[in-house]
Amino acid sequence: MAATRNVAVLVGSLRKDSFNRKLAMALKTIAPAPLALEIVEIGQLPLYNQDDDANPPPASATFKKRIAESDAVLFVTPEYNRSVPGVLKNAIDIASRPYGKSAWDGKPGAVISVSPGAIGAFGANHHLRQSLVFLNVPTMTQPEAYIGGAGDLFDDHGAIKKPETKQFLEKFLAAFAHWIEKTAKTPG
Ligand code: FNR
Repeated sequence: MAATRNVAVLVGSLRKDSFNRKLAMALKTIAPAPLALEIVEIGQLPLYNQDDDANPPPASATFKKRIAESDAVLFVTPEYNRSVPGVLKNAIDIASRPYGKSAWDGKPGAVISVSPGAIGAFGANHHLRQSLVFLNVPTMTQPEAYIGGAGDLFDDHGAIKKPETKQFLEKFLAAFAHWIEKTAKTPG
């Protein structure tokens, strides 16, 4: 059996009742055995300032270390104005610096975007992928996950209501587990 892979899950919304956070929580309960999903919080991070590169704020340093120590990263994000929410971009920038010392480099990744709208935050999903290309995060290409209709996704306990959506996400996570084994720098 493959070694446990610690997956840092970044949620691109700080909203208390966030659909994206709900999805991230639901994913934790359906992830296949080699994957240990853990949400890494980003709401406490200060705004990135390049002047701080030599001496980053403690919350930023802790966050970057947490990313560096993870085996893979899973982004679960809404779309704000057809792009990546600022809070998520800020977290990405923080762990990317100083130049040449990025925590993202070579870390296997995957993206799920979630919206109440019909097109499932496609714009955010792909803008995020643009940064991940530069950061050398080998990001899973298939299956793509644009989850629309988020207002009707969950029951009162936060479980995914539709069996076909749950099955799709199980398939997504199984593919991600395979992707991590294929692309991780240091196989377990
Ligand atoms: C949105 N929303 C939104 N939805 C979308 O599908 N495309 C978009 O471009 C935007 N733009 C946007 C901008 C801003 C500033 C806000 C606050 C919201 C709606 C968004 O999808 C909705 O609020 C989700 O519920 C946000 O995700 P969480 O917080 O539920 O995870």
